[in-house]
Amino acid sequence: MRKSGPRRCSSPSSDSDVTRDDWHNRGFAADWDEAGNLVTNPDRLKQLSLLADLIAASGATQLLDLGIGSAQVESAISRRHPGFFDRCRVTGIDASEAMLELAQQRCAAEKLHCIRLIRGDFLSIDSIELVDSPDAVICVQVLHEVAHEVKRSVFAWVHQRLPPGRPFYILDRFGYPVGAWLDDWRATWNWMRSAVPEDVLEFDEYHRRYRAKADYIASVEDYRAWLEEAGFETLCPYRCFNRAIIIARA
Ligand SMILES: C[S@@+](CC[C@H](N)C(=O)[O-])C[C@H]1O[C@@H](n2cnc3c(N)ncnc32)[C@H](O)[C@@H]1O
Repeated sequence: MRKSGPRRCSSPSSDSDVTRDDWHNRGFAADWDEAGNLVTNPDRLKQLSLLADLIAASGATQLLDLGIGSAQVESAISRRHPGFFDRCRVTGIDASEAMLELAQQRCAAEKLHCIRLIRGDFLSIDSIELVDSPDAVICVQVLHEVAHEVKRSVFAWVHQRLPPGRPFYILDRFGYPVGAWLDDWRATWNWMRSAVPEDVLEFDEYHRRYRAKADYIASVEDYRAWLEEAGFETLCPYRCFNRAIIIARA
């Protein structure tokens, strides 16, 4: 596994220390897919296994994946719950043709024939047309990529499309306060690192790198408040360092 993660792209418009993920670039997309996420997210497998269990327990039959990327999440669900996709169809939406191509390849290789892929951008989410009505929605490591007003439009859009009581699962990277807490986060990171064999980044490098990313980071509390404004009830069953799963029920 590559230690550095995918190659990073400098934002063309700003200071060269600022980096931005270039999802439309085939090389970047392939590097991201190949690198896996463990070097920068040592708990990713644990997070995906909990997400898979939550989705399986929900009895979903029409899953909508907002920001499906290269379909790694579906692969994780299928490995943990073989046969789940015999009962559940998936619509996966993503803005990046490069990521959708990787998803297509993964679905073919892993015989995940139940997945319909659609190109769509959350910046204009109202123009996305769904063929199937979802009874569960997931959005994994995507919403930090879009401005806060876009997150809120996504929440409103999902709320309009989910039947009452059905779940919307968000797994993402959130903000973490620094200052006096930095040593506590370092100790937490080192504890997370110790649980995986991968060559996880040192905390200081991770912290430096992620502070320089041109993302739209918000707190778990902000997400929950925006979801509740959109009409959802929320629960946060998993939280460790800067990652959390939020379940929002319409
Ligand atoms: C970190 S990847 C996560 C992919 C997948 N959910 C996973 O966890 O393996 C982020 C994905 O969000 C997609 N994305 C970013 N901004 C988007 C937008 N505005 N509309 C739709 N997709 C977007 C990217 O193309 C990329 O595939």
